[in-house]
Amino acid sequence: MEYSSIFISLSLILPLIIFLLITKTKKSSKNLPPGSFGIPIIGQSLDILRAMRANKGEDWLQDRVRKYGPISRLNLFGTPTVFLHGHAANKFIYTCSEKILANQQPSSIRRLCGERNILELNGEDHKRVRGALVSFLKPEALRQSVGRIDEEIRLHFEKHWHGKHEIAVMPLMRTLTFDVICSLIFGIDRGTRRDTLVKLFEHLMEGMLAVPINLPFTRFNKSLHARAIFDVEQEEIARGKASSNELLTWEDLAKMKYTWRMATESMRINPPVFCSFRKVLEDIELGGYVIPSGWQVIWAGCMTHMDESIYPDPSKFDPSRFENQRGTPAYSFVAFGGGPRMCPGYEFARIETLTLIHYLVTGFQWKLSLQHNFLGRDPLPVFKQGLPIKIELKN
Ligand code: HEM
Repeated sequence: MEYSSIFISLSLILPLIIFLLITKTKKSSKNLPPGSFGIPIIGQSLDILRAMRANKGEDWLQDRVRKYGPISRLNLFGTPTVFLHGHAANKFIYTCSEKILANQQPSSIRRLCGERNILELNGEDHKRVRGALVSFLKPEALRQSVGRIDEEIRLHFEKHWHGKHEIAVMPLMRTLTFDVICSLIFGIDRGTRRDTLVKLFEHLMEGMLAVPINLPFTRFNKSLHARAIFDVEQEEIARGKASSNELLTWEDLAKMKYTWRMATESMRINPPVFCSFRKVLEDIELGGYVIPSGWQVIWAGCMTHMDESIYPDPSKFDPSRFENQRGTPAYSFVAFGGGPRMCPGYEFARIETLTLIHYLVTGFQWKLSLQHNFLGRDPLPVFKQGLPIKIELKN
């Protein structure tokens, strides 16, 4: 009993002492970025989480930029932190040597995913694990898997959509993402083991970052014109098949250029990953400030997606922006990150998204059940009411 109270007191006090030591020693001698650390340990953590849940994370960060400029200090999750903003920040982070800026996630994620998950690994360890992942996530390897992804998606529609008049998209998309990953990556067949895991996975998602979900169709009603072109593309591919049982191929996916532009434009406006973290290993001089080693870096790279000097009229849903990307500076579209830590699941996500959209558009008609679907972040996008839609089978 006594030991446990000593332990609890120590675990509360120790982080406070460490935090004060780090911030105090650095503050005395260096030109730190503007801002404040707020209340020890808590700092601005609750404010940013609250803003993200209300889908106002970007506004909250924009306010900081207006107040302090593109580099400012704060205290997130008990760690002195620097927030970096803008295109120059993206470029700096994605090209910085990992000897200076290493990968490290906030402790909540570390605890849930383990100290040895890929987001925590650096140097040779990271190269080895990433190399193994890329060997089966690269396009040449995934070419062989299009048929299996196709089967999983068809089965999903048969099991969860057929015979229904209304479904909730958000939880079903999570289940589908998990089913596809079980089948393709973990090699776990359909059955009780997978059903149990799916439940555990959902619980895990509630507390942290999880497998990103594509919700490319949520903006469809915003652009009827875009929708028409896109329908034609999908119908043409379906007509090219000898029977409705014929699976999609790698070549079919390559033809879905317009569909991928729509999905990309959806991710520009509603990026699945809101912010990322790194850890400073050596003092960094940036923009006239010193960012001391030991600090955490947070940046919301996707805020460049709304920078009108890069994407004119940024709130407009316009897939044709991605027709020709030659004029767009590198590290502007960063829904999948950039540099050596860029998402290795890009091709996998592309195949799954395109296949899903194909069967959705050719198989169903739908309309939103609710007029207002509240989209928050936790920290991934979450439709609070599950995004219910009314569906009808197409003939
Ligand atoms: C729409 C879907 C997806 C989006 C938007 C997305 C986004 C991202 C982003 C932004 C990062 C970089 C984070 C950072 O720099 O700190 C990342 C990393 C990563 N993603 Fe994805 N992702 C998606 C799908 C997937 C899929 C399907 C897989 C696996 C099959 C995957 C596996 C990974 C892994 C392993 C990393 C860590 C890479 C490393 O640290 O070297 N992602 N993802």
